[in-house]
Amino acid sequence: MIRKAVIPAAGYGTRFLPITKALPKELLPIIDRPTIEYIVDEAIKAGITDILLIVSSNKNAIIDYFDYNIELESILLAKQKEEEYHLVRNIAKGANLHFIRQKEQLGLGHAVLQAEAFIGNEPFAVLLGDDMYVTEGTPAIKQMMDAFDKTKQSILGTMEVAYEDTYKYGICTPKEEKKGPLVELKDVVEKPDIEVAPSRSAIGGRYILTPTIFEYLKNQQKGKGNEIQLTDAILRLMKKEKVYSYDIDAKRYDVGNKLDYVEAILDFGLQKDDLKEGLKALIKEKAKDL
Ligand code: UTP
Repeated sequence: MIRKAVIPAAGYGTRFLPITKALPKELLPIIDRPTIEYIVDEAIKAGITDILLIVSSNKNAIIDYFDYNIELESILLAKQKEEEYHLVRNIAKGANLHFIRQKEQLGLGHAVLQAEAFIGNEPFAVLLGDDMYVTEGTPAIKQMMDAFDKTKQSILGTMEVAYEDTYKYGICTPKEEKKGPLVELKDVVEKPDIEVAPSRSAIGGRYILTPTIFEYLKNQQKGKGNEIQLTDAILRLMKKEKVYSYDIDAKRYDVGNKLDYVEAILDFGLQKDDLKEGLKALIKEKAKDL
C-alpha cells in the first residue's frame, strides 16, 4: 500500500521569471489558492498520509503557507469572520506535511533523491509541484495507486499528446499493444525529434516508484540540461524491474507553462459560484473583439 508522497517544488521556475524571483512557481495562485495546494489535496484525497515537500532556500513561503498563522486566525475570530477563519485553518487538513531542502537545484532526479530517508523501503508517489490534474472522479494519483495494486512495480503517469508536441516530453515505448490505460514499457525516449517519436504517450507529472529507484538516483550522472534527470534513473531501473505507464483520466494543467496557467484560472473561475456569471459575461465581451 502506498502511504507516502513526494512533491518536488525546489526548481528555479525560469519560465515564469521575473515573478519567480520572489514568488515560488508552485505558489502561483489559481485565483485564491496556490497551485501546490491542489496537488497536496489530490494526494490527501488519494489516501496518502505523509507528504514530503522538497523546497529550496528561497521557498520558505511554501512552508509558511501550510503552517498555522495564529495572529491572523485570532484577528479573524475577533472580527467574527468564522468562514475566513475556517478557510485558513483547514488548509491541507488530513495529512502530515514534512519539508526538506534541496540545497542545490541539480534537477528533478536529485530533488527526488532528497526523499530517500523519508521514504525508507516502501513504494511511493511523486507529484510534481507545478502540475495540476483535475477530475471529478478518482484523483489522478489514486488511479495510478490502484494500478500499482495490480503491478507492484513502478508506474509513470502518461497522457496522449500530438506528435508535434512529443519533443517536449519523455515519450514511452510500450512492450506490447495497449489494451487499456496500463501497459508495460520497453523504453522511454527523452524529448525525441518528431520523426523518431516512438508513440504519443508522454510522461506528465505523476509517478509511482519502488524504492529501488534510489539505488540509481544516488549515482545518476547529469543528463539533458546538465541536470540529474529522473527519467535517466528510471531507464536504468527498467533493466532490473518492470516499469509500466498508465494513461491518467483527468484534465492536466502544466502551471509552469503560461498558457496552461491562464486556462487553469479561467476554468476554475468558471466553476466558482461567486465568479462564474461575471466571468462568463467578461469572456463573451472580450471574445467580440477577437
Ligand atoms: P521543472 O523543470 O518544471 O521546474 O520541474 P523548473 O526547473 O523550476 O522550471 P523552469 O523550467 O526553470 O521554468 C518540475 C518540478 O520539479 C521541481 C520544480 O520545482 C517543479 O515543481 N524541481 C526541479 C526541483 O524540485 N528541483 C530541481 O532541481 C528541479
